[in-house]
Amino acid sequence: MSTTARTVLFHEIGGPEVLTIEDVTVPDPGPGQVAVRVEALGLNRAESLFRAGTYYYQPALPASRLGYEASGLVEAIGEGVTELAVGDPVMTGPGIEMSAQGVYAERVVLPETAVVRRPASVDAVTGAAAWLTYTTAYGALLETAGLKPGDHVLVTGASSGVGTAAIQVARRIGAIPLATTRTEAKRQRLLDLGAAEVVVTGEADGSELVAKEARRLTGGRGVEVIFDAIGGPAFRPLADALAEGGSVVVYGWLDRRPAEIPWNWPFTLHTYANMTLTTTPGGRRRSTAFLNAGLSDGGFRPVVAEVFDGLDRIADAHRLMDSNRHTGKIVVRV
Ligand SMILES: NC(=O)c1ccc[n+]([C@@H]2O[C@H](COP(=O)([O-])OP(=O)(O)OC[C@H]3O[C@@H](n4cnc5c(N)ncnc54)[C@H](OP(=O)(O)O)[C@@H]3O)[C@@H](O)[C@H]2O)c1
Repeated sequence: MSTTARTVLFHEIGGPEVLTIEDVTVPDPGPGQVAVRVEALGLNRAESLFRAGTYYYQPALPASRLGYEASGLVEAIGEGVTELAVGDPVMTGPGIEMSAQGVYAERVVLPETAVVRRPASVDAVTGAAAWLTYTTAYGALLETAGLKPGDHVLVTGASSGVGTAAIQVARRIGAIPLATTRTEAKRQRLLDLGAAEVVVTGEADGSELVAKEARRLTGGRGVEVIFDAIGGPAFRPLADALAEGGSVVVYGWLDRRPAEIPWNWPFTLHTYANMTLTTTPGGRRRSTAFLNAGLSDGGFRPVVAEVFDGLDRIADAHRLMDSNRHTGKIVVRV
């Protein structure tokens, strides 16, 4: 029996004020689908970019939905669903197309491949802050760059959701994370999270300073891996932080200006899209196993910047995201 759910929609591109909350019909789950009662949403930069029309794909307007990450409980399952059962705690994420399937809502129906099990010991707020950040850090650092114990990894924009997870993923395997931020006030927080060193760049492009510090901290050798969310003009001088033969994984593009690639230095440049890993059955299994092992034994503690209570606070949550004042994930309890 279909029902309705309060759902965040937007009808035009713009700032947080374009987000509205409307009653939307939720169908029964069809074959291979799962209905989830949402308990909490985790915001991503992607959603702010999507709302503003600057993400890598465009919203279908009017009445676009929004959101990749939620945690909740399975409310109903469709025919043929065998991996999940009613009442299971879950997280959403893999393979979601936001306009049609966005999870900012009280209830959602998704393909079972977009829903993963959440350990029973993990509460809804923690679950909403976990999936995308840790699986991105896992896939990029371990499967793509081949980060090894003892390696140094330079994490730029390290106060981001993905950056804070990357620090913990690096520590979990015995690698040494160096972090950058533009904001002095975030230094101690990043050290507390496990960064071995933090370089504060300030608003101006501080990549030359970052590269100099990275070389000093590695005895002149440079870091084995750079994990970069920023790109732009800061990219070329940043590459000077890299050890000969190292790897750069570019996973974000927070500075939209063109980036120059240094050609006269042997290294491997990877671009990374988490969906490519997590929409394959093997990638979903490996990344979820890695995440849930860390969540279950307490090794992974998602950093929650702020929790907003109620779907009605969604525009305020987006305003905080756009302000860049946060460290870690912004969560809305539904
Ligand atoms: N490839 C993938 O699969 C994948 C997956 C997830 C996310 N992403 C991408 O990863 C990036 C980060 O996402 P998120 O949700 O984790 O971020 P977030 O939590 O919103 O944090 C971004 C942080 O980066 C810093 N920053 C923002 N704009 C910047 C700029 N122009 N130059 C330098 N630093 C800047 C800010 O920290 P400071 O003020 O401390 O510097 C900010 O707090 C986004 O580009 C997102 O699209 C990619």
